[in-house]
Amino acid sequence: MSKSTPIVGIIMGSQSDMPVMHEAAQMLEQFDIPYEMSIVSAHRTPLRMIEYAQQARERGIKVIVAGAGGAAHLPGMVASLTSLPVIGVPVKSSNSIDGWDSVLSILQMPGGVPVATVALNGAKNAGILAAQIVGSSNKEVAKRLDEYKEELRQKVEEMAAKVESQNYKGGKIGFTHS
Ligand code: RP5
Repeated sequence: MSKSTPIVGIIMGSQSDMPVMHEAAQMLEQFDIPYEMSIVSAHRTPLRMIEYAQQARERGIKVIVAGAGGAAHLPGMVASLTSLPVIGVPVKSSNSIDGWDSVLSILQMPGGVPVATVALNGAKNAGILAAQIVGSSNKEVAKRLDEYKEELRQKVEEMAAKVESQNYKGGKIGFTHS
């Protein structure tokens, strides 16, 4: 599926967002969902942003994941230009004061123009959420997501069994006081 036409568009305001945003791509690869990745800046390339948002649907994109930091207008502006679902990733970037600026710029959208905002630097969850949106109408993707959740469950069960077997009484991890 990965080699076919992209159905998820990952965009970000700057190349400097890539260390965070690549985690969205990693998740889409894990679920074998074809995606594209590009730089689209709301402030530096506003016309490119308009073109991207307005043409995404006709190019076959089903979900847009948009990341930006600081005065993070990209996800909201893209959402204003398309009826595709937009997932916003607040990035703690070099021009971000403390991350809250990025979060609030993306989160506090006016009524009528939703952006599904994930946690600060939460590109991994953005990738999973994009996969879940695709999976709502694609049984193969839904099956992979179910398997992923089962893996998560098993890992926690294993961790729980390990912790319980240590009969922890308040000492250091790895040391037991029974
Ligand atoms: C935002 O400004 C970008 O999304 C990035 O998070 C931040 C800094 O961009 P650079 O100055 O590193 O290109 O628009």
